[in-house]
Formats: sequence, structure tokens, C-alpha cells
Amino acid sequence: MSALVGHQIAESEKVKSLIKQLVGEVQTLNSNIHSIQPSAPELKDHAKNLFDRAAQFRGRPLAYPFVGSGSGRGVYVELEDGSVKLDLINGIGIHIFGHGHPLVMEAAVRGALSDVIMQGNLEPNKEYIQFSEKLVKLAARKSAIKYAWFATCGTMANENAIKIARQKNTPARMILAFKNAFAGRSTMMAEVTDNVAYKQGLPDYNEVLRIPWYDKADPQSTEKTLRAIKEHVANHDKNICCFWFEPMLGEGGYTPATREFFLPLLEFCREQKIATCADEVQTFARTGELFAFETLELGHLVDIVTIAKTAQLGATLYTEEYNPKPGLIAGTFSGATVSMTTGMAIVDELVNGGYMGKSGRIQKIHQKFINGLNHLNETTCKGKINDAGGMGLMMAFTPFEGKKEQVDLFLKKLFQNGVIAFPCGKGPYRARFLVPAIILDEDLDLALNVIEKTILEGVE
Ligand SMILES: Cc1ncc(COP(=O)(O)O)c(C=O)c1O
Repeated sequence: MSALVGHQIAESEKVKSLIKQLVGEVQTLNSNIHSIQPSAPELKDHAKNLFDRAAQFRGRPLAYPFVGSGSGRGVYVELEDGSVKLDLINGIGIHIFGHGHPLVMEAAVRGALSDVIMQGNLEPNKEYIQFSEKLVKLAARKSAIKYAWFATCGTMANENAIKIARQKNTPARMILAFKNAFAGRSTMMAEVTDNVAYKQGLPDYNEVLRIPWYDKADPQSTEKTLRAIKEHVANHDKNICCFWFEPMLGEGGYTPATREFFLPLLEFCREQKIATCADEVQTFARTGELFAFETLELGHLVDIVTIAKTAQLGATLYTEEYNPKPGLIAGTFSGATVSMTTGMAIVDELVNGGYMGKSGRIQKIHQKFINGLNHLNETTCKGKINDAGGMGLMMAFTPFEGKKEQVDLFLKKLFQNGVIAFPCGKGPYRARFLVPAIILDEDLDLALNVIEKTILEGVE
């Protein structure tokens, strides 16, 4: 037994068994949650009171009448109105193992037993080192990534990425970013984001140069984007610090691009000493490999990568060349101890639990869901479930003609019928699904049934 009390806590058989017992007891209670359930009439007033208070104290109503009860099992989540929903959005991609997963809960309890809730960059505990080492070693299998720096969310990880790119390439200021990009909610990330609805009233800082996203219908798509980049480079000589890209367009419409599209763009930017920054905040752990740069076989061409969501905290990963000078990136918080212990447990299970690779569970889920959607589009829901696609656990389709009112109403009805999804894109608007990796085939079938029923109800 180690002389350190911290190690004694970590190794204590009694603590281990108490954690198992505690989580086991909660699991027993959660096992009462089986499938989609309608709301309970006797909880109507109680739930309405919660929704009203949410609207009152945050200044606008919730997007869905969703307040979780704190209980859930797998893809199913119990709400305060007594309903049980099949959750295919998972906090917009936070809960890759769904609700109430025992492994996640055990890791969370273990983290909660630490002497501190939030870890900082000045006085970290060992989880800080363990998790950064894990992420770097996993990223370095297919890239030159050498370091990781934590942040509390994806936006902050992205802020750090752009600061790193700017410092290295100083005084270059401009950023190459795709049309319909989404990068987060800070001032800088609102600038990188291409959605006027997300920056109403904000000044335009004119720091972003737009380039067209991949168009699978246009054989000249790659040449057009490369040409646009070359024109920007010619017009902004030595003033472009980074090429910013999501490996698949997320909020912008869940439209994938090919390796052949990215390859010449990244190679050209590398030649020009423009930092290549992959925003993997949403794609991390979802595309069938841990990093989408592995799925797309582009790891040798990325300088900076950001992750969050599934990782339970944000992180900026970068190469030796882009290691910033001390003082550029820091901050009080590096993340909660619980975020670190659960993030590590989730990553370990994803890497070792049969989820990754061409025949891993993620690809099987993708095929089954997309095949099911296409089948509905060809049979009972003719032409109303268009363009189903995406990568791995990130999937979307265009309901009806993809008009905003149609998609909003479809998603509202889908929620009432028991399945939670969310919109993305703008013209066409799409219904998107962040499917948890633990979903069973029978739950995918149920989700498809509910989607079919909702489409057939129509949106008139
Ligand atoms: C691609 C991408 N980048 C950045 C962000 C922002 O992350 P966060 O909401 O954790 O700040 C998101 C969030 O949805 C995202 O999808």
C-alpha cells in the first residue's frame, strides 16, 4: 500500500466496492425505464411550472419541453413530465454512451471523491496528466500531434487554437473558413461561424475569408475551392494565419466531404505556411475512428486539432511547431475532475470496446440507420426523407422540401411522438441525429418507426 493517502483512496477495495454498490443501486432503479412513454397527466402542472420558470429566469423558453428527471437508461431518458423519450441528440453530442451508463457513472463517482471539483492549470491533480497523455498518444498514432491543452468547452478550445495559429504566424491575421461553418459562441467564434442568425447586432470584424464547401454534385468542386483559397492567398499576401475546417460540416448541414476534396487544400495551405486547424469538437469519436482525421486519412496534414463534447471537456491538440510561448493560453479552470475521469473512461471504452474501425459498432449503426431511412424514403414515406447521410454517429436527412417551418414542425411532432432530434443546415434545413454508440438494433428500429409515423402525420 502506497504511503500517499491519495493513492490509498484510489486503491482502496472498500471504496471500489462502495462505488460499485452505489452505482448498482441506481442501475436497479434505472432498469424500470424501458421504452418510449407518454407524459403522465398527474405531472402536467408540475412540469408546466418547471418550463415556465425556465422561461422566466433565462429570458426565453426551452427549445423543447425537456427537463430531465436525472434518470435514464441507454437511449432512453425520463423527463419531469413523466414521459420517456428515445434520445437521439444527447445534449447535442455530449452523451455518446447515452443515459445512466454504469461505466460512466462509476468514473464520475470516482472523480467526485477527489479533493477538488475543478482542476486548474496551476495545481493539477494526476488526472490532468493522465488524460492529456492519453489524448496525445491516441492522436499521435496518425499525426504529428505532440501536446494537449484543456479548456472547459469547444469554443474555448477553438479560441486557443486560433491564438496558437496567430502567434506562430504573426502578424498574419485572416482565417480561411468554409461557408456554413460553425465554431462556437465567443466573439471570435461567432466571426468564424457563417450564420447571421447567431451574430445579430455583432460588428463584422472582417477577419474571415470564405471558401465553398464540397458539392458532391459538382465534379469541379475541389478545383473551385482550391481556386478560391489561391485567390485569397494572392489578395492577402502573408496575412492568412490558418485554414479552419470541420471534417464534416456540422451545424451547417451534416454534409460530409471526401478525402480527395481536403487533400489538395491542406497540402496547399501547408506549402504556404498557413496553419491547418481541424475543428473536431463534434466529430471526435463519432466517425468510426477516434479522430475524423483518421477516418479521412489526413492526420499527416493537420497542425492543430480541437475536441470537446464526447471528451467531457475541451482540448486543443497541436504539434511541436505550434507549441505556443508561455502565457498565451492558460486560464483558471482546466476542467472538472469528474470530466477528466469520465472523459478517460469513455475514450478507453470507445477505443477498446469494439466501436471503432470499418467493422466496428459505429459503422454498423450508421449503415442500419441510413439504410432504414432510405428504405422509408423509397416505400411508405416516398420522397419525404431526402438525402439521408452523414458520417458515423452523425446523421441527418431533409424532411419534405427542407423548408424551415416544415423541419421545425416535424421535429416538434417527432418529440411529441417520443424521439428527440434537432435541426441543422439552412436551405435545406435538415433533421439531425447524434446517435449514441450504445444504441441497440431494436432501438434503431423503434426510432425508424417513430420517424415514419411522424412523416406520415405530415406538416400541414
Ligand atoms: C464544430 C463545432 N465547433 C465548436 C463548437 C462549440 O462547442 P461548445 O458548444 O462546447 O463551446 C461546436 C458545438 O456544437 C461544434 O459543433
